[in-house]
Amino acid sequence: MRTRVRALVSALPLALCVLVAACDESLSTLAGPTPNLQPTLSSIQRDIFNTTDSSGRVFCTSCHSDAGGRNPSGGLNLRGEVAHGQLVGVASRGKPGAIRVIAGDPENSYLIHKIEGRADIVGGRMPRGSGPFLTQGQTLVIKRWIELGARND
Ligand code: HEC
Repeated sequence: MRTRVRALVSALPLALCVLVAACDESLSTLAGPTPNLQPTLSSIQRDIFNTTDSSGRVFCTSCHSDAGGRNPSGGLNLRGEVAHGQLVGVASRGKPGAIRVIAGDPENSYLIHKIEGRADIVGGRMPRGSGPFLTQGQTLVIKRWIELGARND
């Protein structure tokens, strides 16, 4: 219980900062293993979707890509130029009624639900497997990108 309270308290400044545009420069300190992560799609692609984790696995595009003629997992291609058109305003293939990314609304964006592993998702938490999952700070930066309008930036 006590650790839970402590976790909440330490998350507060992060949450506040991500909500306030003036704090953007300190986003880097939230992003933990990816200090250059910015709330833009190109940065998220470079530092998360296409990045390699500590076990040498490509975080997302090992599965979510059509490289080498493969079928992107979940019908979602996160690689290169097509990623924006695959995410923003697009219906989830796995969960009826869910939208992958709703511009301006991170809370209701299914991408976030899958990354956080919420109880009502269909299928598994992403990245699929036993982790490592995204840190809270990394997730907040993705939420911030969505909040800023989920632009193809
Ligand atoms: C080892 C393969 C693998 C990796 C790595 C992986 N995914 Fe997935 N992903 C899947 C599969 C398979 C599905 C479809 C089944 C499911 O939803 O669990 C899926 C589904 C999804 C969906 C739901 C798509 C929809 O339309 O319902 C999202 C969003 C998603 N992944 C995001 C990510 C992100 C972001 C990462 C990286 C942080 C990631 N995935 C890493 C295999 C993977």
